[in-house]
Amino acid sequence: MHTRWYLLVSVSIVPTSIMSSIHMVTVSAPTNIAVIKYWGKDADGAALHIPLNSSVSVTLDTNDLCAITTVATSPSFTEDKLWLNGELDEGASTNRRFRACVDGMKAMAQEVVDSEGKVIIRKEDWPNLKIHVSSYNTFPTAAGLASSAAGYAALVFALGKLMNAPEDYSAWSTLARQGSGSACRSLFGGFVAWRKGSVDEPMTSRAEQVADETHWPEMRALILVVSDKKKDTSSTSGMATSVKTSPLLAHRAKEIVAARMELMEQAWLTKDFAAFGELTMKDSNQFHATCLDTYPPIFYLNGTSQQIIRLVHVYNEWAGAVRAAYTFDAGPNAVLYVLEKDVVEVGALMLHYFPEFGEKYINRSDFADKAKAYELPADLVAACDQVGRVPQAGDVQSFYLTQAGAGPQVLSDICNLDATTGENCYKP
Ligand code: DP6
Repeated sequence: MHTRWYLLVSVSIVPTSIMSSIHMVTVSAPTNIAVIKYWGKDADGAALHIPLNSSVSVTLDTNDLCAITTVATSPSFTEDKLWLNGELDEGASTNRRFRACVDGMKAMAQEVVDSEGKVIIRKEDWPNLKIHVSSYNTFPTAAGLASSAAGYAALVFALGKLMNAPEDYSAWSTLARQGSGSACRSLFGGFVAWRKGSVDEPMTSRAEQVADETHWPEMRALILVVSDKKKDTSSTSGMATSVKTSPLLAHRAKEIVAARMELMEQAWLTKDFAAFGELTMKDSNQFHATCLDTYPPIFYLNGTSQQIIRLVHVYNEWAGAVRAAYTFDAGPNAVLYVLEKDVVEVGALMLHYFPEFGEKYINRSDFADKAKAYELPADLVAACDQVGRVPQAGDVQSFYLTQAGAGPQVLSDICNLDATTGENCYKP
């Protein structure tokens, strides 16, 4: 295989070094934040990440938060290698999740041709080729902001493009699912459902788009990063304990989620913010209730998260309508879904109680200027003061304003791997 590759490189008049035959692709992939949460794997399908219940999420704009991943292959590579945020991950090549994505995509891989139509990789070469991967996130890793979702979606999408696999993103989502369950939803933009499928037919557990990112253009997500530290209980171990010990989780999966999925998809399709918002908050609360019902209990929310929850309820009561909806994943960070018309007011309210702290506190300067200049109605502040929150900097680390966005994209202007050596060249 080496010789054949070498010949091809010579024919296409690329410098004669074998290293110049590196074939690589760079992509971006989004995070997603669930509004009907995935929590718990079916005991018989745990290794394949077959969930107890279906879930649905909003894919967020990669311009604000994303994973950027380069994958490469060359006959000169002697082992699979993975760098995360610039650091070599020694155990990666044997990691079950990484292997499921790489080997699963190799099974879908096709012949690759160059821009002149010359075959540079034959289909039968793929099983023996090694893969290098370098990936980083543009936001805090493992802080409950779906970094693993973006990371595995990026890995699978990049591999699919590298290997010229048939572009069936729903099939690709079954591989991302085996990386991290929630990652399957990041293969699509907009509003995305993960249908739980069945343990007997794992390929039926896959994501599909309910509506694309242009469907509800007024929707915004305001993220309050309460902690950018790695969480103490990973989703994987937390949900395993919940499955074993929480009767509430079993009840939720069996009796509650299916009806909620229908209502939620309907609310999104009809752009009914009140229905969407109320269900989003109730589902987040139920997920955290199952964490508390787990034995020993898991606490992802902290005092700051609880204050944000209370402020949102007082705000909605003051407004006489659901104008803001919170949701929390496996960490204390809040994601507030808000329509564009209310986002400056909600931003100003949160900024009042969680004042600016450190540089680049808010990701978008135009929004920061408007939120800082906004005069909050005195009766709103008086009502919110009842929550007992005394404005003080430091409890929130940063704000990100974003919106629904597209699925993964191929990037032509960035590369995390050196084009001549295939080694990592990304520095945090
Ligand atoms: C609370 O997808 O991270 O964010 O499948 O074990 O990798 P694994 O778990 P993961 O769990 C995400 C849980 C959640 C809810 C959600 O995204 O639906």
